[in-house]
Amino acid sequence: METPKTGDEKTLNYNIWIDGKIIKGSKAKIHLLNQTMHYGAGVFEGIRCYSTQKGPAIFRLKDHMKRLIKSAEYYRIKTFSIQNLVKGAKEVVKQNKFTECYIRPLVYLEPGKMGLETTSTPTHTMIAAWPWDTYLGSENLEKGVSCMISKWRRIDSKQLPVQAKACGNYINSIQAKIEAIENGFHEAIMLNMKGNVTEGPGENVFIVKNNELITPPLTANVLDGITRKSVMIIAREKGFKVSEKNITLEQLLNADEAFFTGTAIEVMPITKINKKKIGGGRVGKVTKQLQESFFNEVHGKGSHEEWLDYVDK
Ligand SMILES: Cc1ncc(COP(=O)(O)O)c(C=O)c1O
Repeated sequence: METPKTGDEKTLNYNIWIDGKIIKGSKAKIHLLNQTMHYGAGVFEGIRCYSTQKGPAIFRLKDHMKRLIKSAEYYRIKTFSIQNLVKGAKEVVKQNKFTECYIRPLVYLEPGKMGLETTSTPTHTMIAAWPWDTYLGSENLEKGVSCMISKWRRIDSKQLPVQAKACGNYINSIQAKIEAIENGFHEAIMLNMKGNVTEGPGENVFIVKNNELITPPLTANVLDGITRKSVMIIAREKGFKVSEKNITLEQLLNADEAFFTGTAIEVMPITKINKKKIGGGRVGKVTKQLQESFFNEVHGKGSHEEWLDYVDK
């Protein structure tokens, strides 16, 4: 799959759905005086569409759109009904003739009003899409990635609703990402204010210890990831014990295996954290098995047909 940057000419020209209409991305306009740009008051989603034998299928589309609506509610931001959002996402894939792509819905505020009172500002919803390889590179699906424990702590639910995929939340993620990159790592892992493991800047974390899968509970201030939930189901079906438990830094560093889950990153092995190799620096067996099952599911070769929304249906 090609991996264009979102800023290149081709990507900017793909068709975008805006408030029910399809337009060329390059024709989309927004005035600079809008509260989403100035204050981060907007909500978004990240969704993937995969090729299957029955044509392109969007993975857990309704669940993603439900989360978008829930995120919007936290900020009293209005968007479309789930039916319209689902239809819009399929339309974008169809109009661009994509067989596989990443889909990015964003609900943003109408320009013209400034100040921090956002609840009465009219909104717009756009759904964009572009072909996008696994975040952090498909070659790393086999090799694994290195992570740095960030000095930045994950946002606490007493500061902001962490279950909202709100634009402003990602300033915290960006700081952790900058720090990791500047220190030569692929990705960051953040701790919460209690010092327990939370997640990456845009992905959930799992460890494997003595064949048990452990991931932090939502109360640790992690996003209720849709890939996280899917992998937990797949793992239980395979007979693994799966627990949502707080993970200390020491437990993370001493895990047999570790991996990230997320729409963008899919199921990505973690083979190094700070200076410590995880699982001897090699991709673990359990991770490999779950990664394979996950890819089978998204390509329609698994047992969860209900997770796929076929674009041509
Ligand atoms: C902070 C954060 N954690 C975890 C995830 C993974 O969630 P999902 O699997 O629903 O993409 C994401 C991506 O949306 C995220 O932004």
